[in-house]
Amino acid sequence: MPREKIIQLRDASPLILPSLLLCDFGDLRGELAMLEQAGVQALHLDVMDGLFVPNMTYGMPIVQGLADHTELPLDVHLMIQEPSRYVEQFALAGSDLITVHVEACSDLAATLKQIRDLGVATGVALNPDTAIDTILPYLELCDLVLCMSVNAGFGGQKFNPVAIEKSKQLVKIREQRQLEFILEVDGGINVETIGDCFSSGFTWFVAGSSIFNQQSYKQAIVDLKTVTTA
Ligand code: DX5
Ligand code: ZN
Repeated sequence: MPREKIIQLRDASPLILPSLLLCDFGDLRGELAMLEQAGVQALHLDVMDGLFVPNMTYGMPIVQGLADHTELPLDVHLMIQEPSRYVEQFALAGSDLITVHVEACSDLAATLKQIRDLGVATGVALNPDTAIDTILPYLELCDLVLCMSVNAGFGGQKFNPVAIEKSKQLVKIREQRQLEFILEVDGGINVETIGDCFSSGFTWFVAGSSIFNQQSYKQAIVDLKTVTTA
């Protein structure tokens, strides 16, 4: 079951998740092979609708295509308005974890329940300007909380340290409420920024440009991982 795969991975953290935004979309199988050889344990897929964010990427067919060719768990980050319209299709396409933005949902609880009912792990994401208060009533429904360290929409932006403060607070809240959600950070993660993220409690790190702009994905991942095991 998809959700169980994610729960197993939670216990295998820290994890570097490559964001397939800057890869060669004409050669996805080649990219998959290189990432698998580099030892990645899951893939982060950025879905954008041109409405919730001013950029468009890809949808269900790419998720399905990847799912057909890899056993790696798929962490699907939906940057789309009112994602409840599409979560079933993304689940059927092979998502193991579906993350929705709190800012994009008119009924976040219902959307998270819808995802769980499909057997898929749930994530809630919040942009840098969104306060954590907005998600506190829903934490019981979340397998993962994604703190954006850039405004959702584009790769290659500068890391915003507001995510670090959120992580510290969420670690305390998780302990107080005896919850187990994963803390993931996304945007501007590189060898300079990942260390502080790790110290503040994040254990899942999404990385786009710091992997895909390097000659060797393997070396890029080793370099990032080294900081989280130091
Ligand atoms: C931004 C996406 C990210 C991002 C990561 O909206 O969610 O996954 O592209 O790319 P880098 O690591 O280049 O910031
Ligand atoms: Zn993302």
